[in-house]
Amino acid sequence: MAPLSPADREYDVVVIGAGAAGLFCASQLGQMGKSVIVLDNGKKPGRKILMSGGGRCNFTNLNIEPGAFISHNPHFCKSALARYTQWDFIELIRRYDIPYHEKTLGQLFCDNSAEDIVNMLLEECKLGNVKIALRQTIKSIEKLFDDAFSIGSQDGEIITKKLVIATGGLSMPGLGATPLGYQIAEQFDLPVYPTRAGLVPLTLHKPLLDHVATLSGISIASEVKSETGMTFKENTLFTHRGLSGPAILQISNYWKEGESLILDLLPGHSLKELLIHAKSSHPNQQTKTFISQLLPKRVVELFYEMNLLPVTTLAELSLQKIETIDQLLHSWAIKPNSTEGYRTAEVTLGGIDTNYISSKTMEVKSVKGLYFIGEVLDVTGWLGGYNFQWAWSSAYAAADAI
Ligand code: FDA
Repeated sequence: MAPLSPADREYDVVVIGAGAAGLFCASQLGQMGKSVIVLDNGKKPGRKILMSGGGRCNFTNLNIEPGAFISHNPHFCKSALARYTQWDFIELIRRYDIPYHEKTLGQLFCDNSAEDIVNMLLEECKLGNVKIALRQTIKSIEKLFDDAFSIGSQDGEIITKKLVIATGGLSMPGLGATPLGYQIAEQFDLPVYPTRAGLVPLTLHKPLLDHVATLSGISIASEVKSETGMTFKENTLFTHRGLSGPAILQISNYWKEGESLILDLLPGHSLKELLIHAKSSHPNQQTKTFISQLLPKRVVELFYEMNLLPVTTLAELSLQKIETIDQLLHSWAIKPNSTEGYRTAEVTLGGIDTNYISSKTMEVKSVKGLYFIGEVLDVTGWLGGYNFQWAWSSAYAAADAI
């Protein structure tokens, strides 16, 4: 990882971005005998990988399928995902004896640390004699007359026949995210769909926020539904800004400003039946005491503070009141204010229009030798290892074609 020397000015392939997709693509190309350099603006490669999965990197998912990816062109991801699958990446992990486990819903995490994944990618790059140049400021990209590209950085100019852009999305600017990939796309007349934060906590308006903030840190089982009918059954976490947790991060990919969400706080229960039964078996019990057996007490108190639940015994509940309670706790409608934005988002929705990219090779259809891979494209996965699998699969597709 030495600085660029004037001697190293021509490569078979230049990869911009030493993240998941860029490192993996470079390693594959290097091992095929290509001379490869990776240029990155950071002082360390794989910074998002190191932060991912709470430091344990959820590197793939056992249940990868195209339906778990969001794109204006939903068929685009199919070919790459089919040609380099989760099983291929798991095989690589096994070759390096990296211990891992399934946490939930097919999500595979390292037992020890995300560093295991970065070290494996760097070792793979080393096997392919890939050069990695860090702290690079890319100043210009030019297409030369003979199908070559010139890349200008503060260290000078590099010439290459194949240029792979793997600069990722805009989430977490503190980890090196920049719009360079989108700017390069625009330079080559490729449309870019508007971007927005994905897999991101949601914020709430006052006065609901004042109530919810008092529950900060409490997590409950839930089923969350978007206005378009997309549903995720995972935990919701109350925060001092609003809502987070896996169910909320997942639904944030499908939520747009101004829309509502429906939260089922008792998924899998029939509250109506439970209340009807309890009314005859424990008629003198307070409704609040009964509901507090099903939900954390502080969450139940929130609904009492907002005067949404009745202060009565179970015997006093009419069927209509039972139905109202059932409706409230199974279909609590919330209109979020906004998202926490790129500062805390795990991914970026939108990006380069994939209609202009070959789904088999990741090459730009109108610009020979220019490739885009990973999150910079308009392909965004669910929470749970899907985004890394897209990075590996799209990187492999490009490497295989080059
Ligand atoms: P990535 O962002 O990895 O790499 C882009 C690289 O380009 C970076 O090294 C960046 O510094 C460099 N770059 C950007 N602009 C540049 C410029 N102007 N000049 C030079 N270099 C530039 N996914 C998942 O599947 N499982 C998980 O557990 C998690 N967890 C997670 C946690 C957190 C906190 C975040 C922020 C994200 C995740 N993700 C995730 C998402 C996952 O990290 C993401 O989808 C992939 O890293 C995308 O890989 P790319 O290689 O496309 O971009």
